[in-house]
Amino acid sequence: MRRWLALLVAATTSLVLIALLVPLALLVRTAAEGRAMSAAGSEADSVAVTVGSADAETLRLGTERAAHPVTVFLPDGRVVGAPARRSPAVELAARGRSVTAAVPGGREVLVAVQGVPGGTAVVRVHLSDADLTEGVARVWAGLAALGVALAGLGVLVADRLARAVTGPVSALAGVSHRLARGDLAARTVPGGPPEVRAVGLALNHLAERITGLLAEERENAADLSHRLRTPLTGLRLEAESLADPGEARRIEARVDALERAVTSVIVEARRRTRDRAGCDATAVVSARVAFWSVLAEDQARRLDLDLAPGPLPVAVPADELAACVDALLGNVFAHTPEGAALAVRLATADGGALLTVSDDGPGFGTGTAAPAERGRSGAGSTGLGLDIARRTAESSGGSLSLGASATGGASVVLLLGGA
Ligand SMILES: Nc1ncnc2c1ncn2[C@@H]1O[C@H](COP(=O)(O)OP(=O)(O)OP(=O)(O)O)[C@@H](O)[C@H]1O
Ligand SMILES: [Mg+2]
Repeated sequence: MRRWLALLVAATTSLVLIALLVPLALLVRTAAEGRAMSAAGSEADSVAVTVGSADAETLRLGTERAAHPVTVFLPDGRVVGAPARRSPAVELAARGRSVTAAVPGGREVLVAVQGVPGGTAVVRVHLSDADLTEGVARVWAGLAALGVALAGLGVLVADRLARAVTGPVSALAGVSHRLARGDLAARTVPGGPPEVRAVGLALNHLAERITGLLAEERENAADLSHRLRTPLTGLRLEAESLADPGEARRIEARVDALERAVTSVIVEARRRTRDRAGCDATAVVSARVAFWSVLAEDQARRLDLDLAPGPLPVAVPADELAACVDALLGNVFAHTPEGAALAVRLATADGGALLTVSDDGPGFGTGTAAPAERGRSGAGSTGLGLDIARRTAESSGGSLSLGASATGGASVVLLLGGA
């Protein structure tokens, strides 16, 4: 847009400047010509007054003192002064009419002098092309420089204006991209011209609406799931009234499982609606490592723990971070042989936290092309653990990266955004 505006202004200013400067340049040349002609006329007049009275020698001296080549054609055919051809214009002037005429390389100004013994004398002053355009080139150069400077100034001002518009528009595009990526907290600070500011306000309003609608949808999902409780209660009563106690227990167990599933759907749907409060990463990680350390001891695994002193606030709810740490530690226990050591390290990074879980196992190797791909498991499991960890990290503005530990085992690095 900046380039288009600059081009538009350059084109319009150039047109306006051409429309003004070209006639002005022609006027300057005409004025220079007129000035040279009137100076030549005065010169011719001053020589003309001496033609009748002075002798040929005085006349010659008079013509030599003139600034331009002056020739006097006397009625008796003599020519005094600068040599010149007796042109048809000179013949015309000799009949008593003062004229100017174009000659190769310039113009001649001819003044008829009457009352000279023997007829009419003609005083001719020759002006070269250089005399006629004296000073014109300098003025034209000045006008051209003025034109270029004005066009440049126009483009500069247009560029400033364009930048004032494109800056806020780019910011708007950035916010809409963040919204599209699912970052519903993204908002723009409305700025720029009123129209762009109005778009910014509308985008913020849209983001609010999307957030509100999503919250409503989740509450609806919770409500709908809740409705399942009534038929479930009926089913439980039916089960209790069954004659065969074995069958009754079996069906009751199924009903219990179904009820737990319904409860977790309601809790999950409502949890996503609430504000996602952050947590202290040090507290959560140390609690989860304490839990897993019992199993590590059972399996004779060395567990190194290096935690940055808390509190270390991160933008991830405590239960999500706990699930994430469980997924990573669970992987070590599931995919490395018993006895393989593991290390957990939590450090501060970029205002957030950097959690590294590494082990002395076989590592990711090359067998599993994309271990973090959702649903892809190298061990016949569900393949969700690493994807859950990645999504948790990304929801806080961080990331997950997989690599190798110093001993060639697996190393998972989780960057968590600060709260
Ligand atoms: N510490 C590790 N050492 C070696 N391989 C690992 C390790 N962690 C993960 N992997 C590999 O990455 C794959 C994907 O892990 P992910 O946790 O996503 O799924 P999963 O453990 O197979 O299944 P789930 O976690 O859903 O039970 C694993 O199947 C395994 O092949
Ligand atoms: Mg796993």
